[in-house]
Amino acid sequence: MLSHLPSLGVGLGFREPFKSDLFLNRQQVDFLEIVAEHYLDASWQKQQELELLAAHFPIIPHAINLSLGSAEGLDTDYLRKLAVLIKQLNPPWWSEHICFTKAGGVDIGHLSPLPYTQEAVEVVRRNIAEVRRWVDVPLILENITYMVTLPGAEMTEAQFLAEVVERSDCGLLLDITNLHTNAVNYGYDVHEFLQQLPCDRIVQLHFVGGHWHDGVLIDSHSQSTPVEVWQLMEEVVAHVPVKGIILERDENLPPFAELTKELQKAREISRSNGRWG
Ligand SMILES: [Fe+2]
Repeated sequence: MLSHLPSLGVGLGFREPFKSDLFLNRQQVDFLEIVAEHYLDASWQKQQELELLAAHFPIIPHAINLSLGSAEGLDTDYLRKLAVLIKQLNPPWWSEHICFTKAGGVDIGHLSPLPYTQEAVEVVRRNIAEVRRWVDVPLILENITYMVTLPGAEMTEAQFLAEVVERSDCGLLLDITNLHTNAVNYGYDVHEFLQQLPCDRIVQLHFVGGHWHDGVLIDSHSQSTPVEVWQLMEEVVAHVPVKGIILERDENLPPFAELTKELQKAREISRSNGRWG
């Protein structure tokens, strides 16, 4: 099923501050990813913005607060609104994270890691089965960064990600910056990690740069992409026919030309590995 998804190319996570530059450089951005939560209960202006973006770019909705790892189940009101948005955009796929953001009725406001247990795999599988009753567009799941690991792990992080996407029959949105960040902070080998993932399920990549704080690499989406992440992109794209790559810059926004330069570099890596014709 995933192999039949269309190739979208190289694009940007849409952020309002560069809206005008985006339209002035329309040809350099193949597709956009939007944060779904920005358009739930949207004002008239946000709705207009979304319609304008959708008229000019393929759009992938990226949700952050569905909380697929919540053992208590999903917020049905939220899910209903998300389903309406996805139906409106009719994308080839949409994405969420392998994490939880809500627990016991409390909104944590943060992507929190799950324990690497079969029980957590089953929670995510069950929640995704519920999501599919509302949304029939293919779902891909993203690996997150974390500052803590939960006790009681029955498997490694890579095995957990693999179990989740296999058992819930989802694609993988591999954030190579998150992978690099965790590997640096926890001292593991990215190549061994990649070997444990079901590469045939990787549909899309995220990339950007973070910053150092007190000896810890922070996933702040605030810097240009470091050489290690470009190398990871080469390695993944050489082995996997990814369908799309998104630059996910949020903070410390540079002149737009610097973003398009990074997009062009990602496009060249893809083409030199025989992706997208
Ligand atoms: Fe990401």
